[in-house]
Amino acid sequence: MVRKIGILTSGGDAPGMNAAIRSVTRVALNNGLEVYGIHDGYKGLLEGNMVPMNRQSVSDILSRGGTILGSARLPSFREDAVQEECVRNLNDNKIDALVVIGGDGSYRGALALTQRGINCIGMPGTIDNDIPGTDFTIGFDTALHTCVECVDKLRDTSSSHHRCSIVEVMGNHCGDLALYTAISCGAEMVITPETGYDELEVLERLRYLDEAVHKKHAIVIVSEKTTDVQALSSKISQNTGFSGRATVLGHIQRGGTPTPSDRMIASKMGEKAVDLLLEGIGGHCVGIIDNEITSIPIQEALERPRKSRKKLYRLFERLF
Ligand code: F6P
Repeated sequence: MVRKIGILTSGGDAPGMNAAIRSVTRVALNNGLEVYGIHDGYKGLLEGNMVPMNRQSVSDILSRGGTILGSARLPSFREDAVQEECVRNLNDNKIDALVVIGGDGSYRGALALTQRGINCIGMPGTIDNDIPGTDFTIGFDTALHTCVECVDKLRDTSSSHHRCSIVEVMGNHCGDLALYTAISCGAEMVITPETGYDELEVLERLRYLDEAVHKKHAIVIVSEKTTDVQALSSKISQNTGFSGRATVLGHIQRGGTPTPSDRMIASKMGEKAVDLLLEGIGGHCVGIIDNEITSIPIQEALERPRKSRKKLYRLFERLF
């Protein structure tokens, strides 16, 4: 029977992680469980950096971005010796189960610990929306709001100067943040790992917009790691009637107060994570699919292909 659980946030932080910590803590306490907060992800677990949590530990954090527990990446967690040390620390503190909030790397860690006898539940916390087994990750909606707000502002100034704004957004190897931003902002082009990058096509479309449509501005949204936005900006200035300006939104996308939607899914998923542990289930991850909170084995989530965005790419082109 589970009596004491740990909670940690791992990988890149995401707005809404605090709402998730709050939900897991409060639901667990209200079910008679003890809760330990582990600082700095798996690194804190390895170093035994953990503190008991009570109701007040998670007061006034719903609206705060970041994570009160801190986060870190620990590549050495793949090593057997590191995992064994973590399990020892959990056993020494009599922690029977763990909730891990993070991305797919964090899920792999949660699976490894479950296989070593500690029931773990994964919660999808990342702005990238790149975790299979859920339609949306905690933090994606807030990051999308930030991107949309920034691009709307860039459009104003681009319009005044007959410029093309090339805006790089995060997403790691997933194009969702770029695609959703592009549709929400009425961008002229979107470049993601899914679309690929064709320089001639970009220049041709921009020349058409300038010469045939007489547009005052153009917006190109680019997923990070697909192409160099500074180089593309120069090409646009040299080869089209627009003057190119590149903006890399960067880590601003990871901060800020979480949207109500992120707070809601974090709260619901936290409740589900604790319920699973109370049922004695480990090695699962929670998600939201068609607006229903679900859970599937982590192994299955890691093996599933990501949801196709074909319909959304089609919509983007039909709105052009
Ligand atoms: O996974 C979240 C994310 O922000 C990605 O979008 C980005 O590629 C990466 O993390 C940046 O990592 P770091 O904060 O370590 O620079």
